[in-house]
Amino acid sequence: MNFEKILEENQQWIEEHLRLDPNYFDDLAKGQSPDILYIGCSDSRVTAEEMMGARPGEVFVHRNIANVIANSDLNVMSVVNYAVQYLKVQHIVVCGHYYCGGVKAAMESTDMGIINLWLRNIQDVYRLHKDELNAIADEETRYKRLVELNVQEQCVNLLKTIDVQQAFRERGLIIHGWVFDVKTGRLIDLKIDFAKILKGLSDIYTYEL
Ligand code: CO
Repeated sequence: MNFEKILEENQQWIEEHLRLDPNYFDDLAKGQSPDILYIGCSDSRVTAEEMMGARPGEVFVHRNIANVIANSDLNVMSVVNYAVQYLKVQHIVVCGHYYCGGVKAAMESTDMGIINLWLRNIQDVYRLHKDELNAIADEETRYKRLVELNVQEQCVNLLKTIDVQQAFRERGLIIHGWVFDVKTGRLIDLKIDFAKILKGLSDIYTYEL
């Protein structure tokens, strides 16, 4: 990759925006009020804004390996808190993707050093759904299903947080579980039944508000 070229591209990008709207960057500098929090994988093929056709200012983004929303991860929990309580987003998208290297490594129990700790979150998802997953004979189908179930369980982790529970009750915050198919470019809505999941979450997770 040519880094000088990147800076030239940036200059062109600035000029293109200013040609269409001379106040473009002045307006951006005034602040942000995105409607969506997007949590996805760091994978270089899964570009959050580009695949959604979103413009700067529209989406608050957090990405990590295999879009994990770990309960004890201060980083993702701070992002969720800030987006929900301060930016008041109305939608949270959790987006996994087929052919996710993180999910693959978790499935194969590959020793990845320090990443083992992170991937264990996905191995927990496998354990929770092992009857369904082990019943799938075809390895690729099983791999794809684990990607989907990982999205579902990370959405459940969101529902465990007081911020999300509060916003869910007070303003009907909407959570979307999606998978991006790298092979076709398609975004697939998993149509997860969150009302059912919330009902099934034991009282242990539910905060008195
Ligand atoms: Co990935």
